[in-house]
Amino acid sequence: MSHGIDLERARAETPGVGHVVHLNNCGAGLMPTPVLAAVTDHLRLEAEIGGYEAHAAREAEVEAGYDSIAAMLNCARDEIAVVENATVGWDMAFYAMTFAPGDRIVTGSAEYGSNYIAYLQMARRTGAEIVIAPDDDSGQIDVAGLEAMLDERVKLISITHAPTSGGLVNPAVEIGRVARRHGIPYILDACQSVGQMPLNVEEIGCDVLSATARKFLRGPRGMGFVYVRRALAERLEPPFLDNHAATWTSLDTIEIRPDARRFENWESYIAGKLGQAVAVDYALSWGLEAIRARVDGLACDIRDRLAALPGVVVHDLGRVKSGIVGFSVGDRDPLAVKAQLAEQGINITTSGQASTRIDMERRGLALINRLGVHYYNSEAEVDRFIEAIQRLAPA
Ligand SMILES: Cc1ncc(COP(=O)(O)O)c(C=O)c1O
Repeated sequence: MSHGIDLERARAETPGVGHVVHLNNCGAGLMPTPVLAAVTDHLRLEAEIGGYEAHAAREAEVEAGYDSIAAMLNCARDEIAVVENATVGWDMAFYAMTFAPGDRIVTGSAEYGSNYIAYLQMARRTGAEIVIAPDDDSGQIDVAGLEAMLDERVKLISITHAPTSGGLVNPAVEIGRVARRHGIPYILDACQSVGQMPLNVEEIGCDVLSATARKFLRGPRGMGFVYVRRALAERLEPPFLDNHAATWTSLDTIEIRPDARRFENWESYIAGKLGQAVAVDYALSWGLEAIRARVDGLACDIRDRLAALPGVVVHDLGRVKSGIVGFSVGDRDPLAVKAQLAEQGINITTSGQASTRIDMERRGLALINRLGVHYYNSEAEVDRFIEAIQRLAPA
């Protein structure tokens, strides 16, 4: 079941596996040794020779990071902005878009809370409307239903690929085909899918794709990136500009840089940029197809074994699933379940209504347990987790 992943090597290169059974990769993955080294080496260099000087010394590696991200997404390096998290990347693109009263934003029922908050603020400011595409009987976005909603009022399709709260993977490619057919800009929140499955922006057909470093990509915290298709980036004026995003060309003129780095700021976390770049190279070295296959195998096994336990309910929707598993253990408080597993050295987490309110309210779910399994997790770790839940499950 290792699907081409050398598990022994993956674990040898993951110092954290000696301390915990880490099933919270949907929160933050365990950094592998090369990522940890990239971040700590650079911090040490900054302390030794100065921050600006350390940046100059590593300029080539920082720049190569853009090539790595571009290679992972199948885009050009000038279509990538490296920012401090997925939300900032997403926000910089979204808030650069203009809406008029009656314009429509089409999204999905599992949309991430921060994105939805931005739609609501945009709606309040401009009079734009938010419309929710229907789900099919599996719980993923119903692509035909979404297409039926499109008319001249729809100015944006914006969806979450792999929602934070469970195993659903929305049909991003099929939605991309519809978006292109209708000439409507398309944002894909790939925060939870990046690093656990291949993402090809040409195949997906999205115009914006936002991602974070710390989750399935196994990079450092406080880093992320956004892809913005060149033709769109040129037309989007970022909500904030500084003297990296733009040049002060005369007393009363500015020139915004042409590439996606118009969405960046000058000051940034260079150690984190280097760590993120290494994390991308590291994921590519394993192969995202191989990662996907192993994650899928482990997650399917966990779902089957959880569902077989008395009183345990698996909440995952959709036809295609991610490495995230959402579940409840009878009527046990998910926070207590998380705490009890933590006492046994097993990291899982919870997901509440504020993260995916539309879907959770519709299904009458307030708070559930959630885990995210990764390729470096072992079968023995899965057994330990299942046994721990078995001890909690109502007999
Ligand atoms: C689906 C989804 N989108 C966006 C985000 C926000 O990412 P970040 O914290 O890097 O801004 C998260 C974080 O959990 C997420 O799960």
